[in-house]
Amino acid sequence: MTIDELGKSLHDCQKCRLASGRTQVVFGVGNPHADIMFVGEAPGLHEDKQGEPFVGAAGKLLTELLESIGLSRKEIYIANVVKCRPPDNRNPQPDEIETCQPFLLQQIKLINPQLVCSLGNFATQTLLGQKVGITKLRGQTFQRPDFMLFPLLHPAAALHQGNLRIPMKEDFQKLKTVLEKMKNPQNTSLASHSTEAQE
Ligand code: URA
Repeated sequence: MTIDELGKSLHDCQKCRLASGRTQVVFGVGNPHADIMFVGEAPGLHEDKQGEPFVGAAGKLLTELLESIGLSRKEIYIANVVKCRPPDNRNPQPDEIETCQPFLLQQIKLINPQLVCSLGNFATQTLLGQKVGITKLRGQTFQRPDFMLFPLLHPAAALHQGNLRIPMKEDFQKLKTVLEKMKNPQNTSLASHSTEAQE
């Protein structure tokens, strides 16, 4: 199955209560061969209308953060834990997450990225399988069987709590280093100890 076929197969999904309130399923967008994938929580109003993840205010911030480390939306893949908008943007419920989780896992398998960045608590806890808060996990790498997980604060949280903007930017700088190391695993000059050695 291709990623397009998986998306089409969910076009009329009725597996949970979110089907009744959505305009459309927001499956995912981006490079089907991406090395890096971002996973958010659930579509909001704009995503539900446009059929694409992260196109509202949080998406604008995500795009800026990506560009700050030289990444464009075109080269990555973006999806959400649940593919349909929860009413009034409420949190996705545990049973909705459970119902949609196999599709996210299948999506990750088909994209086969080296690194998955989980945005916020819901994506991080879903992909890590642990109920630990994002503030404890952010900015660190976790080896999962098929990919490396790099939890990040959710851009919407940084929009609502200005004090999270700086840690969020710092985590993206860490992400840049993680990506550089992934591309050049032999390049020890990127390791933090080499900076100390030059001083
Ligand atoms: N927040 C999310 O988690 N996902 C989106 O697609 C938009 C906002």
